[in-house]
Amino acid sequence: MKEPINVFDYATRIEKNLPGGALLNTLHTRFDSMVIGWGHLGTLWSKPTFIVYVRDSRFTKEQLDATGEFTVSFPLQKPDPLITRVCGTLSGRDTDKLAEAHLTTDPANTVKVPALWEYPLTLECRVLYSGRMDPAALPQDVQTAFYPADDKGCQDAHTAYVGLITSAYILR
Ligand SMILES: Cc1cc2nc3c(=O)[nH]c(=O)nc-3n(C[C@H](O)[C@H](O)[C@H](O)COP(=O)(O)O)c2cc1C
Repeated sequence: MKEPINVFDYATRIEKNLPGGALLNTLHTRFDSMVIGWGHLGTLWSKPTFIVYVRDSRFTKEQLDATGEFTVSFPLQKPDPLITRVCGTLSGRDTDKLAEAHLTTDPANTVKVPALWEYPLTLECRVLYSGRMDPAALPQDVQTAFYPADDKGCQDAHTAYVGLITSAYILR
């Protein structure tokens, strides 16, 4: 069952989990899940929102741009290293992460992207706004650390997706 939660009661847990323990899930051509280390829970336009940051190169970006929907999943215990490795290093373009990481889905309430039993704390989100961040507009130390140009001049910038939280719960 889905136990509804007030997401702000879980703000500390969510922010503490983020540096590597959260999954951003999408569903378009297939289900995909990627590890995220960055994200923001808060209020924007008087609505409960969760913002994720996705680089140009991610398969997740293609799926998000196509559907405008995602779920974010947090573990209630220490993250499984297999899930972290598969979802944090492989691309959904050529990997079925559900099978490789042994993930089990549960249909969501308000979006087509499912929740995950292995990471039970779930936020369902609909994208209200997305904006690609211009590395050139960032401080030099941030550019150097996070956006070095490759041999083709590509900096693999992040796009911020502001998700309206349409449902929040723990799978039990
Ligand atoms: C600890 C950790 C945190 C990460 N955080 C992010 C993030 O916030 N944004 C991002 O674009 N990639 C992040 N990544 C990288 C993606 O998880 C990784 O590239 C993934 O394989 C992309 O999958 P996809 O191509 O199926 O979307 C992170 C990886 C790890 C291991």
